[in-house]
Amino acid sequence: MSLKITEVGPRDGLQNESKEISTEDKLAFIRKLQSAGISNIEATSFVKKEAIPQLSDAKELSASLHWKEGTNFSALTPNLKGYLAAKEAGFREVAVFTAASESFTKRNINRTVAESIEGFREIFREAHKDGIRVRGYVSTVIDCPYEGKIPPEKVLEIAKILLDQGAYEISLGETIGTAVPTEVERLLAKLLKEIPSQKLAGHFHDTYGMAIANVEKSFELGIRSFDSSAGGLGGCPYAKGASGNLATEDLLYFFQKSGIQTGIDLSKLIEASSFMEAALGRKLASRTYIALKAKASS
Ligand code: HMG
Ligand code: MG
Repeated sequence: MSLKITEVGPRDGLQNESKEISTEDKLAFIRKLQSAGISNIEATSFVKKEAIPQLSDAKELSASLHWKEGTNFSALTPNLKGYLAAKEAGFREVAVFTAASESFTKRNINRTVAESIEGFREIFREAHKDGIRVRGYVSTVIDCPYEGKIPPEKVLEIAKILLDQGAYEISLGETIGTAVPTEVERLLAKLLKEIPSQKLAGHFHDTYGMAIANVEKSFELGIRSFDSSAGGLGGCPYAKGASGNLATEDLLYFFQKSGIQTGIDLSKLIEASSFMEAALGRKLASRTYIALKAKASS
């Protein structure tokens, strides 16, 4: 399997930003991501407005997305209502999301893990009929902000259920960015005994600066699908203190210097991040972004 990068900046990146970003600015950001050659973009989520006010323009945003050939847009959908809205908006891929921790799941989607999985059944059933691809997220795969260490067995159990239900890939959410490679190795050692590496993706947050090391470990163990956000945007409203996702710039720099093709133009990506940095009015955290931007302007 060749490398797959899913840009989650417009969804995971923006969902936690308190400054309201206009739909026009989100669309311009997404267009710039497309221009950089990013082909998998998680554009928004169809969730309860009060839960994530920043993304409550999902319908309007989708109406003006540039659905050009070659871009696979996806949207997060917690329930059938969200799924139907995403389908109506034109998405051909959705992502369901639950967690390996009860407390996190309760706070995030007001369900037990079992209830969330039960609720996804109708999404999988409809998506199967509609020919829409479903990705499955499992959050808190190593640490939970409320429950601490999560046993790999729990992650395996949930990932297997979502795959059985019809998810084409499971994105492993390292939600609070606390994990180190030895922990990732322990988790993957468990999962890879029963799940092929092509069905797993790494979704690392970068709170402690360990995300790229965790990518390297995952890559070494056969994982070829990673989520990241431009400039390192992001966080999680239900995981206090969690900072952004692994920056797409850091991921690209790492792969390019390691001789692995990504098909993404790093300098154009910097333009996308720079645009969003100005719209947000705050500095983005990605080391690679900061270094390359400074170099370009010197
Ligand atoms: P609830 O309050 O239990 O829902 O919320 P409900 O079914 O009781 O409905 C309550 C109201 O919400 C109703 O409206 C519904 O219509 C409405 P009312 O009749 O009162 O006017 N509603 C909706 N509206 C729009 N879209 C929908 C929808 N569903 C119900 N889809 C619910 C449960 C799941 C809806 C809520 O908790 C929610 O929307 N949560 C989303 C939280 C979220 O987006 N979190 C961030 C994403 S997860 C993440 O970031 C982690 C990840 O990045 C991986 C990682 O890093 O680990 C993916
Ligand atoms: Mg996330």
